[in-house]
Amino acid sequence: MTAGTLTHASDITFEEAQALDRQYVMGTYARQPVVFVRGEGARLWDSEGKEYLDFLAGIAVVGVGHCHPKVADAIAKQAHTLMHVSNLYHNPHQARLAQKLCELTEMEKIFFCNSGAEANECALKIARKWGKQVRGAECYEIITFLGSFHGRTMGTVSATAQPKYQEPFAPLVPGFRYAPLNDLDAVRHLVSEKTCAIMIEPVQGESGINIANSAFLKGLRALCDENEILLIFDEVQAGMGRTGHFLGSQTAGVQGDIVTMAKGIADGFPMGACAARGSAATTLVPGDHGCTFGGQALACATALATLEVLIDEDLMGNAIKVGGFFLNALRELQADFPNQIKEARGAGLMVALEFSVPIAREMIKHLLESGIVANAVSDTTLRFVPPLIVTEADCQQVTDALRRGLL
Ligand SMILES: Cc1ncc(COP(=O)(O)O)c(C=O)c1O
Repeated sequence: MTAGTLTHASDITFEEAQALDRQYVMGTYARQPVVFVRGEGARLWDSEGKEYLDFLAGIAVVGVGHCHPKVADAIAKQAHTLMHVSNLYHNPHQARLAQKLCELTEMEKIFFCNSGAEANECALKIARKWGKQVRGAECYEIITFLGSFHGRTMGTVSATAQPKYQEPFAPLVPGFRYAPLNDLDAVRHLVSEKTCAIMIEPVQGESGINIANSAFLKGLRALCDENEILLIFDEVQAGMGRTGHFLGSQTAGVQGDIVTMAKGIADGFPMGACAARGSAATTLVPGDHGCTFGGQALACATALATLEVLIDEDLMGNAIKVGGFFLNALRELQADFPNQIKEARGAGLMVALEFSVPIAREMIKHLLESGIVANAVSDTTLRFVPPLIVTEADCQQVTDALRRGLL
């Protein structure tokens, strides 16, 4: 390797990148055969110059679009000013971002970290400590839901009620109980003196856009109130405007005690946040929790610019309007292919297409060849979580490509 080649990594060909990747990167991902080298808005370009419409957005991350000029400018400006000091000192960007996030989430205090799993770890630690302090030493159980996804750390894997993510890493962290989604009676049966929290994604993303219905979420809120239990919303995927409100739980009109965020919060810059209200907001004290990079100036300046764009460009309104158009278009496709398509479902720009036959992975290949990026969460289900800036014409392009793939 010659001097300077490390900083020109995007000049690499597809074959070179693939060979280096296979040799030096742990094989934790089943990668598609493409190298993306540039992004703008809802479009990506690969190393061969081919253009793609991005309906995955880094898995629900790049909400305001790739390389939005206001976000890129905020990064450049802050990178030239001050990127990082320790959390042992006050940080004006962090303080301003915390205030904005409290306003948007209707919470009272924020802890900053770098990822969704870390945000959820913070929520789990608050719940455990709060349970012991408020309800006694034996109050530590947390109820989560079948099909959920909360992250890859040992705590969040234990919360994730899917055997494929748990079995290789057993024994798990004790104290988790699992209930079926949208079954309030089943949750009621699991609640006991030991229960300190219920944790739920308002819309399960990783398992294929399974929506927790409003009546169920309202029922959970009431159950938590009756039994002095914390309600935790994992908004890592459904939050940041994707369902049309800032939080997926706001779309259902239900307020949690703790809310976790990541993914779209800084448009691709790594950041996570755990927000809380009431006594949960003051449970953690110095020494209980921390994060070296969490809430550093560069990440917070990026998140502030991202939130400004999200609000100024009314992207939450766009998520409802364009998401509704897309869902209708997919339902029309379903009517035309009743034997192949089982269901189209969605909330805002969190949309899934479920086939009756195992063709999802084949369909992803076809879409990629057609210049469209999406992903298959199983052999039968496609997930679409595009940037919130996409248009009806973009959705039509995806629907037309799906139609061609089904013919
Ligand atoms: C709902 C939810 N929670 C948590 C996570 C974990 O986030 P991260 O990969 O940033 O740790 C994800 C990631 O897909 C998620 O969808």
